[in-house]
Amino acid sequence: MFNTQQFEKKIATSWLGRSYFCFEELDSTNNYLKNISEQDLSHGMLIIANAQKKGRGQYERVWHSDPGKNLTFSLAFKPQQKNRFIVLSLAVALATSELVEETTNKVSRIKWANDVFADGNKIAGLLTETTYSGSNLNRLIIGLGFNINQIEFPEELSNPATSLSNLSGEEFELETILADLLIRIEHFYRLWAENDISLIKRINKRLLGFGEWVKVDIDNQLLDGEFKFLGIDEYGNLRLLNKELEVNTFSHEQIKILTS
Ligand code: BTN
Repeated sequence: MFNTQQFEKKIATSWLGRSYFCFEELDSTNNYLKNISEQDLSHGMLIIANAQKKGRGQYERVWHSDPGKNLTFSLAFKPQQKNRFIVLSLAVALATSELVEETTNKVSRIKWANDVFADGNKIAGLLTETTYSGSNLNRLIIGLGFNINQIEFPEELSNPATSLSNLSGEEFELETILADLLIRIEHFYRLWAENDISLIKRINKRLLGFGEWVKVDIDNQLLDGEFKFLGIDEYGNLRLLNKELEVNTFSHEQIKILTS
């Protein structure tokens, strides 16, 4: 179970997660932040749930997590910049992937665009959503499901799952891991807000298949031939080099990079 007193001892950010709520059970932490009123929402707000009744994933999938064993939380941002959200979302994946690697000594990679893998299995998934007031974007919500102490996972998952405990044989304090993650995300948020190109380079180095010839699927259609995966540009567009050495840029997330 997530212990809020312990978390308050560990949290070391200046603004991210300083306003937070932890619930025994919610339908979904993303839903909570989508539905909260504008005056009750602050930039950097954190919602944690020990259990979610309707945890959601990409493509309307269900997010499974044993209650109290893992981290399931969402962060709300009210960014000045109204674009490049994919980069911020990837920065959260980057923070998670770096933490996984440093904690377990196992290689971890970001699988475009929302998954974090380690040892060939999925350890975390992101669900990034926006809300609008009229035509104005007013909040960006990034939800993370991060497997920490769960050992066994349902077999029917679309990707085989793992956890920090599975990778290392140790048990982890959820509060310490979350505090560590928030510090990293706060740092990357600043790089993102400043358009710092070093963030893009760091994300690219961690993308699964970066610099390799890969197969590409767009909206469930496999493209002919292979493409060299050049990672993202400063706007978060995905770049692929074809065999004629032309660079194709894609802006949408319905692209799957298929690595061998
Ligand atoms: C995916 O792998 O498809 C994304 C999974 C995202 C799960 C997290 S758990 C916290 C937040 N609340 C949700 O309902 N979903 C995200």
